[in-house]
Amino acid sequence: MCGIIGYTGRRPAGPIVIEGLRRLEYRGYDSAGIALFDSDHELYVAKATGKLDNLDARVEGQLPPAVAGIGHTRWATHGAPTDGNAHPHLDPTGRVAVVHNGIVENFEALRRRFEAQGDRFISDTDTEVIAHLLAERLALGDDLAEAMRVTIPLLEGAQAIVAVSVDDPGRLVAARVGNAGGIVVGYGDGEHFVASDLAALLPHTRRVVFLDPGQIADVRLDGVSYLDAAGHALEKPIELQPFDPVAAVKGRYKHFMLKEIHEQPDVALDGVRGRYSTDPARIELPELAIDRTRLERIQRVVLVGMGTSMHSATVGRHYIERFARIPAEVDNAAEFRYREPVLDDRTLVISVAQSGETVDTLWAMEEARRAGCLQVAICNTPGSQATRVADATVFMRAGPEIAVASTKTMVGSMVALHALALHLGHLRGTLTPDQLSEQVTGALHIPSAIGDALLLEEAIEELAGRYAEYEDFLFLGRGLAYPMALEGALKLKEVSYIHAEGYAAGEMKHGPIALIDEHMPVVAVALDDDLHDKMRSNIEQVKARRGRVIALVTEGDTSLDGVADDVLALPRVLPALQPLVAVIPMQLLSYYIAVRRGADVDQPRNLAKTVTVE
Ligand code: F6R
Repeated sequence: MCGIIGYTGRRPAGPIVIEGLRRLEYRGYDSAGIALFDSDHELYVAKATGKLDNLDARVEGQLPPAVAGIGHTRWATHGAPTDGNAHPHLDPTGRVAVVHNGIVENFEALRRRFEAQGDRFISDTDTEVIAHLLAERLALGDDLAEAMRVTIPLLEGAQAIVAVSVDDPGRLVAARVGNAGGIVVGYGDGEHFVASDLAALLPHTRRVVFLDPGQIADVRLDGVSYLDAAGHALEKPIELQPFDPVAAVKGRYKHFMLKEIHEQPDVALDGVRGRYSTDPARIELPELAIDRTRLERIQRVVLVGMGTSMHSATVGRHYIERFARIPAEVDNAAEFRYREPVLDDRTLVISVAQSGETVDTLWAMEEARRAGCLQVAICNTPGSQATRVADATVFMRAGPEIAVASTKTMVGSMVALHALALHLGHLRGTLTPDQLSEQVTGALHIPSAIGDALLLEEAIEELAGRYAEYEDFLFLGRGLAYPMALEGALKLKEVSYIHAEGYAAGEMKHGPIALIDEHMPVVAVALDDDLHDKMRSNIEQVKARRGRVIALVTEGDTSLDGVADDVLALPRVLPALQPLVAVIPMQLLSYYIAVRRGADVDQPRNLAKTVTVE
């Protein structure tokens, strides 16, 4: 949550910081602010509530020709979204400016200490105390990096911080404390950057260094040095990032969400490319560089994630049980951590996270690390914290996902989980060559099947026109379609603000059926599998109560014609791979209903792309 950008170099810093914020706006967008060094090396600070356009309008024609600066786009935790609470925050003398992501959990105690000595606070945020603490150390003679190092242990909670000081114009000091969002340092030509995530740096450089928790980057025009918490210098090698900057722009699409929905055939293709081959059928996961005996010793698998990633993890649980025959469970990472889970070194914990920075998921991974579990991350973001904590990462290979609502990374994560489960099954001898061959062939067909599912777009846009005014929806599915029902409901809630619930269809008659009438459309996933007849009965039960049904069926299945009000036929794929096509109409329906309702599709209210607070 919250986007951070910093720049020092020979180009005018202002436009670079603002443009960086634009790329980070998906992380938080209730206010934004910048601090730039003007030609007298004093700080020029501007802030505005609301979207970045408001800040842009406020600074138009006024940006000083600065050589360095920082910027922030906010997702409020402490203090309402107002100009005063927007970052950067300054110390009382205006010499230090700070941008921050995370929560200073003990800020009230720190604030009281400063107030007792006469300091005045002008915001309601937890962040402002960091500026006071840094200024206190600078007044004692520390330089900015040392001030940061000494300040960090005084802050409870996890955070990412970037600070500048008028005593040292052109210098940015960044710190990562715990697991609250990353800090990445970018190396340009005669210039350096810091950012909360890679997307902001891609137009400028692909040469980057990620900070680990407890590390500090001292960024100057002529170089960057790194410190650990004890003040020892660190050598951190520069990594070359493969992301293509072109992938981070909207192109011909009206919204990133639509663009990302359409990228899914390619995401599926990238997911199988080099991993699956036929004649004979093989799965190659070179990134799973874990000792074979460790993988063979696994007795239990726990999958964790949040939101859409948890829904992928639920599909992953089916795959692990079905193909590797290992008992598997799935948990919401935020609950997992606090229920004192029973874990040991024969438990494999698979964490699914697009960002690799979701704090709930990172805490669950920490719990697993303490218990000595083997850990595999399914992640989309190279260099992110999840990839550092895990013993190995199977990447989603989806490229940057900018829309706040996840779409293509769900496909990327389900493909990665399928490959992982097949790999484990093959290794442990629970998959016959025929089963492996069937799954590999089926997976190689998925990119084109997703392409075919996207051909429903026009029909779904028309459907959205007819259903956009309803205020409640129910999504039903069984087996592998159950997580799709959950995902369909989540997507609709997020982007259109319509109340929606996802249920296992068998659960419907245990309560939710009371809600059914002509005002509550039901989206029923009834693809051709072993559970199809039971799903059909559930649909009949809805119809008997005057419910309206949109059914997702497999092409060629006419059994619901004349029963469901609307039928969408999806391409036939292997039953195990049906979630990969079933998710497409869910995404399109949410998207077009949201567009109809005039919602802010790419940046829905109250949400943030990367959730770095608990
Ligand atoms: C839903 C959505 C969120 C994320 C969740 C986890 O569209 O985007 O529910 O799936 O916040 O994020 P990651 O995968 O980054 O851990």
